[in-house]
Amino acid sequence: MRVTGTIDLLPSQMRLYNKICETFFAICKLYGYEEVATPILEDIRVFDRNLGLETDVVSKEMFFLEKKQDETLVLRPENTAGVMRLCQEGGLFQKLPQRLAYYGPMFRYERPQKGRYRQFHQFGVECIGVASYMADVENIQMAVHFMQEIGLAELTELEIHTLGSESERDAYKQALHDYLLPYKNELSENSVRRFDKNILRVLDSKNVHDQKILETAPVMRNFLQMESAKYFDNILESLENFGISYTVNPFLVRGLDYYNQTVFEIKTPALGAQSAVLGGGRYDGLAQQFGEKTPTPSIGWAAGMERLFLLAQEHQTLSVPPRKNIVIIAMTEAFDQEAQKYASLLRKEGIACLTVHEGTLRKRMKIASRLEAKYTIIFAPKEMENKTAILRDMMRSEERILPLADLIITVKKHYDT
Ligand code: HAM
Repeated sequence: MRVTGTIDLLPSQMRLYNKICETFFAICKLYGYEEVATPILEDIRVFDRNLGLETDVVSKEMFFLEKKQDETLVLRPENTAGVMRLCQEGGLFQKLPQRLAYYGPMFRYERPQKGRYRQFHQFGVECIGVASYMADVENIQMAVHFMQEIGLAELTELEIHTLGSESERDAYKQALHDYLLPYKNELSENSVRRFDKNILRVLDSKNVHDQKILETAPVMRNFLQMESAKYFDNILESLENFGISYTVNPFLVRGLDYYNQTVFEIKTPALGAQSAVLGGGRYDGLAQQFGEKTPTPSIGWAAGMERLFLLAQEHQTLSVPPRKNIVIIAMTEAFDQEAQKYASLLRKEGIACLTVHEGTLRKRMKIASRLEAKYTIIFAPKEMENKTAILRDMMRSEERILPLADLIITVKKHYDT
């Protein structure tokens, strides 16, 4: 039995999955992002305070593995903190800016549902060491570009907001606290918990009554000083100039605590409750938690592979090229060796080739279709006597008889047409 909250991928699904991966890394290349890899296993200290002790991810969703004296290992729930650790240990903070990308499994002990799993995969990018608002713009542009390339632009929407600086945020939290206090008894149980532990998360409540109360709550925008307001406006203006549509969502709060200034998500109405396919933002203070003396302006995002995959699969937004195999059918055992010989010759030419040795011709042709054969080559007794074989074009359902000597060159000539 498969473990709850995990998924298998069948070969046809894996091809779509790989296509999304290829597209991600092609985009990374275009924007100058280089791939890094961190271990799935990390010391809990990489995450706990850095993501926020009161966040759901840290307080209830982490998978613990082993406890050895002062070392507690966890399966990584995300990878921004891991990349910061990598930068520190790999000396990359001394060579800023860095544009880094990663892909891999993440683990969160969440209640599984469509689009939400306990083992899932993230594509992520981190632009480390650039303070200009242009880094935010380019980072968001890259996310939107990725959505376009996998055919999801029409199904998704960009939401953006700012959390301001730490002092601005503190002033806002206080104002939100003062506003919500008289309503505390009316708030949902979840929001009361958030009110006490992480007040900004109340803004994310899905409860209708909470949302009604929040309608007239103070908004972050009014707590921004000139500098932060200008920074945010510059980003919005540039997005408009680049033709990137967005909605400013004053209730956008991320599930991790390391963010400051810009935060954004790409959401879809097409996946039910799990609407975020990508999320990110600026995290200028995180590097200091990993030993840097001064703030290191950084911004990044991560996208959930399974959610992108579900959307691309359900809405058929990405075409996966056929496999284009060549299938050789040896009609009697006497031609088995010959079939393998020609298969090897084709593979040497870089052409994918399989042989089918069992069953009636009808059954073998069925297998060839399932293998998405472009051509089937049939070694049949009558033709073999004359040193020829039957070449069947599977798409056109046309057959011709070819001398064995011309077989490789003919297949090679037409393989890519
Ligand atoms: P996050 O919003 O926690 O951000 O996750 C990013 C994306 O991962 C989500 O938008 C969603 O698509 C996917 N995801 C999260 N949890 C699950 C789950 N249980 N099942 C399936 N998909 C899931 C981060 O992790 C940040 N590290 C992003 C970031 C990078 N910020 C700056 N740089």
